Amino acid sequence: MRTIDWDSKKNNIIMIDQTLLPGDYKIIECGTIESLCEAIKSLRVRGAPALGAAGGFGVALAAYRSNASTLDALMDELDKAGKNITSTRPTAVNLSWGVKRVMGVTEDANNIKEVKMFSLEEAKAIADEDVEKNRELGGYGAALLEDGDTVMTHCNAGRLACVDWGTALGVIRSAREEGKDIKVIACETRPLNQGSRITAWELMEDKIPVTLITDSMSGHVMRKGMVDKVIVGADRITQDAVFNKIGTYTHSVIAKEHGIPFYVAAPVSTFDFEHLEDEIEIELRKPDELKYFGNRQIAPLDVEVYNPAFDATPMEYVGAVITENGVFYPPFLIDEVRI
Ligand code: MRU
Repeated sequence: MRTIDWDSKKNNIIMIDQTLLPGDYKIIECGTIESLCEAIKSLRVRGAPALGAAGGFGVALAAYRSNASTLDALMDELDKAGKNITSTRPTAVNLSWGVKRVMGVTEDANNIKEVKMFSLEEAKAIADEDVEKNRELGGYGAALLEDGDTVMTHCNAGRLACVDWGTALGVIRSAREEGKDIKVIACETRPLNQGSRITAWELMEDKIPVTLITDSMSGHVMRKGMVDKVIVGADRITQDAVFNKIGTYTHSVIAKEHGIPFYVAAPVSTFDFEHLEDEIEIELRKPDELKYFGNRQIAPLDVEVYNPAFDATPMEYVGAVITENGVFYPPFLIDEVRI
């Protein structure tokens, strides 16, 4: 199934619980805004484009669960639900984008029935478009890859970070579909290991050759000439920087040092050219993510911990941004991207 979807029989959100991968593949249901917020916070659903779909479906869920008897009361409830969903994770702009897009169509509704219908239609459209856009983006990105390339990636920008296909991994899938022999080096992506748990798993499911390394090995493999290109996803692209999983900036600097192209693959919904890097909140996560590995304690319990989930890579380190509207080489204007 898709990473996230709508169960039309129960009118619930359904999703693959990504915290259980690769050990267990389990579909879970979210029937309330509270359970959806918990799923987002705990990364059961994660990855910027998948969060866009979660935001959209969340507004529809709020409409379907509401007992409001007037249109005004329902709109107040949706507004509150939208704010709750958006506040779960601050960095990926797609989450608030998905919420706003679906809230927008509800304004045209004349009654409660229409709010439900319009919100669900729009949320489904976001999900469908995500798959189409990733396919288009994949095609543009594939043209940058040569037969025989080894691509290093960080975190998971695959089908599980999106509704399907993926951004960075979508480019690799598209290149392989064109018959190019592409191999992948996946960084494990501490502390929550989206690279080893999710990227390695989904590439192996698709029989795409993948080698797992720790994040700190990226300099070594690039210096050894083992990497031809780096492709990562993005959680937000401001005028001056690309926000992505912590560790991305380090890879970009090393790639530049070794003359290795560093590409970012992201749909247009990830762009936020209204802001600059310094204005964006980087999500800080719980110290326990560094003090424990699973249930095993791996640090003194009273040690001071700094645990940012994302970093910002200045545009000067980015070779190109691959979108569904084409490939853009910095510096570029937002009007060129949003055609
Ligand atoms: O904390 P996560 O797992 O949601 O972080 C995800 C990433 O950083 C991805 O690289 C990004 O969202 C792009 S997904 C296509």
